[in-house]
Amino acid sequence: MKRLLITATAISLLGLPLLANASPKQDLKELRAYFFKKFPGVKLQDFGNGIYALDPVRRDEWQNIEEFPPYEDGVAKGKALFKKYGLAKCFKNGGKGIKQNYPYFDSKSGKVRTLIGDIQACIVKNGHKPLGMKKGNMVAIEGYMAYTSRGKVQNVVVPNDKRALKIYNDGKTFFYAKRGQLNFSCANCHIDSPGQMVRGNLLGPALGQTSHFPVWRRKWAKKTLAKKGEVGALGGFGTLHRRYGGCNKQVRAKPLNSGKAWKTKQHPGYIALEYFHTYMSNGIKLNGPAVRQ
Ligand code: HEC
Repeated sequence: MKRLLITATAISLLGLPLLANASPKQDLKELRAYFFKKFPGVKLQDFGNGIYALDPVRRDEWQNIEEFPPYEDGVAKGKALFKKYGLAKCFKNGGKGIKQNYPYFDSKSGKVRTLIGDIQACIVKNGHKPLGMKKGNMVAIEGYMAYTSRGKVQNVVVPNDKRALKIYNDGKTFFYAKRGQLNFSCANCHIDSPGQMVRGNLLGPALGQTSHFPVWRRKWAKKTLAKKGEVGALGGFGTLHRRYGGCNKQVRAKPLNSGKAWKTKQHPGYIALEYFHTYMSNGIKLNGPAVRQ
């Protein structure tokens, strides 16, 4: 904690590049312009590779791991589970190559639907028990669906509907709100400070941050190993919302989705965050699942 605080003071706490009342299109334009200026050598598509777009040494190491990716068994398991739960019927195109359109605004319900939420709804509709939302079998299924969507361009739509815009703006507000004992916003770390170090970690940019989920993290694999004595096919896997929770904890804020109540459903606050955050990756090709630290 002390160490983080010391590094934290070294982080530049700049203003917000995004205006409170701008449209999603303007927000995206400004965010891209900001990062193109900050990292002139990095092309739009490479932002999908997070910190590996910024640091050649870490990139080499990462590419070596990706040659024999530790998530492969998980994706195979996801494919089998996809079949077992009869998911093909619930989705367009039999569920293949569709992740780029998530999350989307459903005008009938007035809510934003995530891929994980739709997988869960289908599982329950088909008469099965709901799955845990942040890791395990659910992530394997998402991983398989991400795999079939590789190369598709992220295409989140925020229609001109007050309800959709409200959810988008709630997500944006969450991203810029300071929280936790350390009083840090997502933007402080992932907009103001990418390229800088915090606690021995290089900070990655917000642009492209969702393109490769779910991820297989070494940190999560180690955690599973310590708990169960083996990592297994799924032990390193986690969803975007699991990562949100981790980043909330880093600043000593309680994750929105902690506790039993959120085991089989997603928190609306994180759904709104995902809507805004994934919109910021529009135009970037999906490349999940991917390995991260
Ligand atoms: C104290 C700094 C800090 C704050 C605040 C913070 N993060 Fe992070 N975040 C990190 C670090 C360090 C990593 C790992 C390195 C990286 O990929 O940027 C990370 C990684 C991530 C990743 C994974 C990136 C990838 O390539 O897989 C996502 C997504 C993310 N953060 C989102 C958020 C969101 C959303 C918030 C606000 C709720 C947030 N972070 C707040 C430090 C922070």
